[in-house]
Amino acid sequence: MTFHLVRVRSEVHSVHRRHFLGTLAASGVLPRTALSQQAPDVLTAATHRQQILPAGYPETTLWSFDAAFPGRPLRARQGDRLALDVVNDLPQPTAVHWHGLRLDNAMDGVPYLTQAPIQPGETFTYEFDLPDAGTYWYHSHAQSMEQVERGLYGPLIIDEINPPDVDQDLTLVLDDIRLNQDGTIGEFGNFHDLSHAGRIGNLWLANGQIDPAYPIKRGERIRLRLISAANSRIFTLGLAGLEGWIVALDGMPLADPQELPDQITLAPAQRMDLIVDVTTDDDEAFLITFERDGGYAIAHFPVSGAPSPKRAKPDALPANPDFPIDLQNARAATLLIEGGAMGGMRAASVDGEQLGARDLAQRGLFWALNGTAGRPEDPLLDLKLGESVRIGMANDTAFPHAMHLHGVHFAEVLPDGSLGPLRDTILLNPQETREIAFQAHNPGDWLFHCHMLAHHQAGMGTWIRVSA
Ligand code: C2O
Ligand code: CU
Repeated sequence: MTFHLVRVRSEVHSVHRRHFLGTLAASGVLPRTALSQQAPDVLTAATHRQQILPAGYPETTLWSFDAAFPGRPLRARQGDRLALDVVNDLPQPTAVHWHGLRLDNAMDGVPYLTQAPIQPGETFTYEFDLPDAGTYWYHSHAQSMEQVERGLYGPLIIDEINPPDVDQDLTLVLDDIRLNQDGTIGEFGNFHDLSHAGRIGNLWLANGQIDPAYPIKRGERIRLRLISAANSRIFTLGLAGLEGWIVALDGMPLADPQELPDQITLAPAQRMDLIVDVTTDDDEAFLITFERDGGYAIAHFPVSGAPSPKRAKPDALPANPDFPIDLQNARAATLLIEGGAMGGMRAASVDGEQLGARDLAQRGLFWALNGTAGRPEDPLLDLKLGESVRIGMANDTAFPHAMHLHGVHFAEVLPDGSLGPLRDTILLNPQETREIAFQAHNPGDWLFHCHMLAHHQAGMGTWIRVSA
């Protein structure tokens, strides 16, 4: 363990002791929900009150699924079919997106692209096959900057037919929520959030709680599924007291598990599956979020049991169905990301009309993709089923963006021409250029947008058509 982490560890101790003493009710593991063919299960979106701030502060009024925040884990087995009636008891229309699933386009949950929004009082039945195992999540895709922040999200876990042998399988949905001292969430869509880094929170949450505790034992091997449900924050995370490997990114297994580095980056909507061994001699281990002024516990793990060394590297998770990318014959496209504060965007087209920066700002639009703000009438690309494509993306802005493509997983084309791991969300730092490639194996109209939800709302969204 490096000196830096040791130093951070002691800060972590003092921070959580100081701020959260007496509020550390152990919440245990998220319950496993069996969900299979027998379903039509019901998921109700409604207003719900929950204690988010430390004890002694007021409760928070959230919008959540089934009166739980995060929504209950939906769990099924690879090859199953998921069937869910989503009931909308919210004061706004909604729709549910199953983030990262390569599913039937009509079930993708994007208002006005794949379905009409579910009006208050209405029900919509989602039903689709689950070809891929892995760690996914579900969240509202209507007014998502507001609805996801208010709590409309939950984990979606698809178990492998032969899952790896572990002692615990823990899911941690990470978030940063912006709350006032009186427990209220406050307003949405101020121009600063829309035109800068998005809505950044002031509290870190794991599974809806401040620094929850998950008891572990030395010698245990744990699968840790990290999901970022944050609106805009890019988490830099580390583990103290646990050592292991990254085995999957955005649900997709790595062909070769990668030794866990001291710091890992989790952009909004990204997931990471870890397999870790409990090796510490201390009585607590931590999941740390690194901030400018040091590391803070976002979750902790009380440790018991006899000392035990790190075990051998785990096997790779079983691969999901493969849709090989034909880079030689791939169609080439480009995506220019412009706008935001301190950017140079002078004008952009909106619904076919060219508008200057002032008029755009008046409409709450601050970002453009290939010169268009907001989802254009025509797709960025109209691809033939089975065709391969490569998209060079240039981030000509002063902010990072987490670009997410629905319906397929893409690979990054690395500088040496090889393909990186499959992902559904890729982070582009300011002024960075990255290229992705994929095979258009899934027919339909697929959204392609920034998952910094304020950026999406303020114009960073386009779409791709795959024609059968
Ligand atoms: Cu997580 Cu367009 O979605
Ligand atoms: Cu963005």
